Amino acid sequence: MAGTVVVGAQWGDEGKGKFVDLMSADMDFVVRYQGGHNAGHTIVIDEERFTLQLIPCGIMYDHVTPVIGNGVVVDPKVLVEEIEALEARGVSCEKLKLSGNAHLIFPYHQEIDEAIERRLGDAKLGTTKRGIGPAYADKAARVGIRAQDLLDKDIFIKKLEISLSEKNLLLSKVYGRAELDLDEIVQDYLTNYKDQLSPYIADTVSLLNDALADEKNEKRVLFEGAQATFLDLDHGTYPFVTSSNCSAGGAATGSGVGPRHLTRIIGVAKAYSTRVGSGPFPTELDDEVGARIAEVGDEFGTNTGRARRIGWFDAVMLRHAVNINTMTELAITKLDVLDGIDELKVCVAYEVNGKKLDGVPYHQTDFHDAKPIYETFSGWDEAISAVESRDGLPSAAQDYLKFLEAEVGVPITLVGVGPGRAQFLQWSEV
Ligand code: IMP
Repeated sequence: MAGTVVVGAQWGDEGKGKFVDLMSADMDFVVRYQGGHNAGHTIVIDEERFTLQLIPCGIMYDHVTPVIGNGVVVDPKVLVEEIEALEARGVSCEKLKLSGNAHLIFPYHQEIDEAIERRLGDAKLGTTKRGIGPAYADKAARVGIRAQDLLDKDIFIKKLEISLSEKNLLLSKVYGRAELDLDEIVQDYLTNYKDQLSPYIADTVSLLNDALADEKNEKRVLFEGAQATFLDLDHGTYPFVTSSNCSAGGAATGSGVGPRHLTRIIGVAKAYSTRVGSGPFPTELDDEVGARIAEVGDEFGTNTGRARRIGWFDAVMLRHAVNINTMTELAITKLDVLDGIDELKVCVAYEVNGKKLDGVPYHQTDFHDAKPIYETFSGWDEAISAVESRDGLPSAAQDYLKFLEAEVGVPITLVGVGPGRAQFLQWSEV
């Protein structure tokens, strides 16, 4: 049993790509199990920056089979473009596998995503407007169209006709938008995307299970989470969440690999917090320190360019993330962004309606009202981005990490001190 899950432990953008990239060196398969091109993983190799939206980070290694699992929603246009861009830069996509059960995103999903956000006005969720929610809604309503449908023209057209006739009514009558043309979509999907994507479409469930069942020749599988625990449809700050199960449980349903194979669960958290879009954020900073972290940490969306909201590290939420994911270890990223800040804070509990709470409030209204209770730490002046070992860190940085580890309750194994592949240090052994 050799399944490792890398999962975001906060609100996304924790730098999971860097750790997945690092760990992929020892893997046979790297699997995306949920989300779509709302994700954006950045990897820096020899100062060259690669941004991946749908293709698993393992694509960078020749020996890895990258898999887009059944739980992902795929915009075929984006996937085709991503394959072409990687190939043009010398990264082979020959081994990529796309689950035939992955659902496809269509132009009407994007239109509906935008229309809903506009209609919500001030109450909007702040989605990426990539059609993610509407595509998952179709999946749940059993009117979605899957990658395997591209391989059967008659079925594809029949399903699209049914779906589009309803969507056009919705777009024109409810949202006052133009209707979409069936023939145009058929032309794009069945000519351009079908030809380009059919070599990759596969039965990924059997592929992964066969690999894991081979006892003589044990294969290692890495499950690459997108978004994060608190954007999880069930466990996040609903409704300010994405439409998939980002937490570790999603790795099983989104890939067809049973939970007993998921033995190592690595949560990734920044040394502070960020969030994109609306929703509660108890430790949010609206001051100069927040602005400085945003600037130094380059806290702008990889795909959307949107400014991220900034806050202090929230250990209460992290403890919750440990439970939701049965997290076995924690990786901390972007510690270097805190260089030169005089005083650091960590939220250890909340005050809600005059009462102290050590856990995340169960009622969302209370969570909106939660006031952070902080422990305060001295910062460090030194630049740490070249530090390669635990002992090389300034003592204030070591104290900060020791405190996070004790508060969260799982070992910190890796610490990121810069964006490059080599800019991390081992804090403790697994
Ligand atoms: P959606 O996933 O586009 O439906 O957006 C729903 C919520 O998830 C919004 O608040 C987005 O900002 C957030 N979100 C989606 N993908 C990411 C991500 O990769 N990083 C951070 N936030 C994300």
